[in-house]
Amino acid sequence: MADVREPKKSGKSKSNGRWKKGLVILGVTGAVVGGLYAVATPFILPAFRRICLPYVPATTAQVDNVFSVLKRAAASNPTLDVVCGTGEKKMLVDLGSGDGRIVITGAKHGYQGVGYELNPWLVWYSRIASRQAGTKERTSFHRTNLWNVDLSKFDVIVIFGVSQMMAALETKISSEMKPNASVVACRFPIPNWEPHLCEGAGVDEVWLYKASNNPHNGTDVRTDLSSSHIQESSKT
Ligand SMILES: C[S@@+](CC[C@H](N)C(=O)[O-])C[C@H]1O[C@@H](n2cnc3c(N)ncnc32)[C@H](O)[C@@H]1O
Repeated sequence: MADVREPKKSGKSKSNGRWKKGLVILGVTGAVVGGLYAVATPFILPAFRRICLPYVPATTAQVDNVFSVLKRAAASNPTLDVVCGTGEKKMLVDLGSGDGRIVITGAKHGYQGVGYELNPWLVWYSRIASRQAGTKERTSFHRTNLWNVDLSKFDVIVIFGVSQMMAALETKISSEMKPNASVVACRFPIPNWEPHLCEGAGVDEVWLYKASNNPHNGTDVRTDLSSSHIQESSKT
């Protein structure tokens, strides 16, 4: 009777199979680790900057407070350039725009909204979120260092920063903002300015400032404070 048993695999082909399996595992592990690294790095990097401004999204109450204080400001002082709905669109900027929630809500209130943000994932997320919200035409998001932004074209400047940066930001805003513009600071007030109005309490508190109440000191802090010179930017 003929012998029909399979011929035994040689030691060489067994080790070839193990080698290939090892390469596949190594490739998959490398791709997963590389992907996690690429996604996590922009969220971790702020901790190593001179001024650490991490990604902490505004609460719903905070966002509501921003737009209700703007409405109150418009009602109390019609000369302020914060009123939307008639004539030219007002320009609103969020410095460190995170996932775009303030810019998108601003667009829903009639503003032309611009967000500047260092984290590229958040910039892309904001663009997609704005498209889904139907505000694509009224928003743009840029991967730009906020210290390099020229603030002179904006009617409303919104900042949810950290206390360590507010004095430097005060200097920058003072030297760049236009006379009829307003600033809305969330959670941390501008240290030496007199607020015109405030809204909310605790972590959701926001303060509205008018340029006319506060001194223009003419110092340009852009070159001094930019800890990186990322100026990549593109429109949605
Ligand atoms: C406290 S979060 C506020 C996010 C958003 N404005 C909101 O209210 O939901 C601050 C944001 O600023 C971004 N950021 C930090 N440093 C920045 C810089 N130098 N230029 C632009 N964005 C920056 C962070 O990545 C983060 O998304």
